Amino acid sequence: MATTLITGGTVVSATGRGAADVLIDGERIVALLEPGSTVLGANLTETVDRVIDATGKYVIPGGIDAHTHMSMPFGGTTAADTFETGTRAAAWGGTTTIIDFAVQKFGERVQDSLQTWHDMAAGECAIDYSFHQIIGDVNDESLRAMHELPGEGISSFKLFMAYPGVFYSDDAQILRAMQTGADTGLLTMMHAENGPAIDVLVGQLLAQGKTDPYYHGIARAWELEEEATHRAIMLAKLTGAPLYVVHVSAKQAVAQLAAARDRGQNVFGETCPQYLYLSLEDQLGAPGFEGAKWVCSTPLRSKHDHHQDEAWQALRTNDLQMVSTDHCPFCMKGQKDMGIGDFSKIPNGIGSVEHRMDLMYQGVVDGKISLERWVEITATTPARMFGLYGRKGVLAPGADADVVIYDPKGHTSIGVDATHHMNMDHSAWEGYEIDGHVDTVLSRGKVVVDDNTYLGRKGDGRFVRRDPCQYLI
Ligand code: URP
Ligand code: ZN
Ligand code: ZN
Repeated sequence: MATTLITGGTVVSATGRGAADVLIDGERIVALLEPGSTVLGANLTETVDRVIDATGKYVIPGGIDAHTHMSMPFGGTTAADTFETGTRAAAWGGTTTIIDFAVQKFGERVQDSLQTWHDMAAGECAIDYSFHQIIGDVNDESLRAMHELPGEGISSFKLFMAYPGVFYSDDAQILRAMQTGADTGLLTMMHAENGPAIDVLVGQLLAQGKTDPYYHGIARAWELEEEATHRAIMLAKLTGAPLYVVHVSAKQAVAQLAAARDRGQNVFGETCPQYLYLSLEDQLGAPGFEGAKWVCSTPLRSKHDHHQDEAWQALRTNDLQMVSTDHCPFCMKGQKDMGIGDFSKIPNGIGSVEHRMDLMYQGVVDGKISLERWVEITATTPARMFGLYGRKGVLAPGADADVVIYDPKGHTSIGVDATHHMNMDHSAWEGYEIDGHVDTVLSRGKVVVDDNTYLGRKGDGRFVRRDPCQYLI
């Protein structure tokens, strides 16, 4: 087993920062040491196989993106990043674990869908990966199958209050699935938007000739996110199920989550970089069909109502607990362009898996969150939330050596040609400039990115079995 010493850096955790050297043996961290430590009189730098100099840089746990959709069949097409391309892009951006979604389609057995996703990912990934289970057809058989998920290392499942006729569950189905979640210790993840009401508004807008991408945001009104979030919280309260609401964008939904948490309920919320930086007016409302690049659900919200500022604020106060990407990329040509003349036919999704760590670091530079909070919302809380903590999300003896060396004096230009390794013909983040840079990435002790060079290979990443949620109140 090769030994590695990362020297000279500032180790940043969710709870503090300090000068420390990180000693790695094979795939694991074995010690955090006083800088310049000696063993039996010998300087460690002379005894290890490899020394990585992190002077002037931050040494942080590898990012965990707990919401991705590689190769997801959706909206009449398939998400453009495969497990191979998407996890490689993630590694480039300092993310060393993804949690993707196995999709149970209507009429399909849950176990079969999980196997399909295992088959798609096995041997393809650059970094470690796990799955949540989407339950797209809540019935007696799928509820029984949910009992087997913990034994498969799957500790969370997702339901949809949106997308009628596709993944949608009605309230009766949600209630039964949450009861099963509470019984089995599975964390219920919820896409909280009132799908049937949205579909009525979509039909009315199209009938009025309002076909541009902008109207995607009008149809998916914040009231319908707030209402669904409230309903999900109440159903979770009744059943005793812990609830994690995905891709929260409306400030009114954040308020619902905060109120429930103030009452002591196990309710959590995730937001995504797009809801912190982008808006209904500037992106969805871009001229012509350009706004299609930013069609995702929940949608981008109005900047005039300050949803973005409120989301940053909620991240500071822990009313929102973490940031994932909801990476679900579609190219403009041949995919998004299916919706020219009808915004409802634009496949929903944005690609960001490569940029999450950088975009959230820019929040540190801009004074919106602390350095420690950056680590917490991108790595430590995702690990705790989804049963990976101890192995992932922390630099400590015994943890996997998933480590990012981040240069605060570096610079990253985001764009299709500049930096981007995702399988997309555009970037939702074109032109964004980041005052920092992912220099070196280790995945279980192996250097996979260094000095703007990719050194990993597909198959480096392994499926990670997860424990139950470690974040409960
Ligand atoms: O627009 C989105 N969010 N696409 C991915 C599917 C989902 O709802 O998470
Ligand atoms: Zn969703
Ligand atoms: Zn999603």
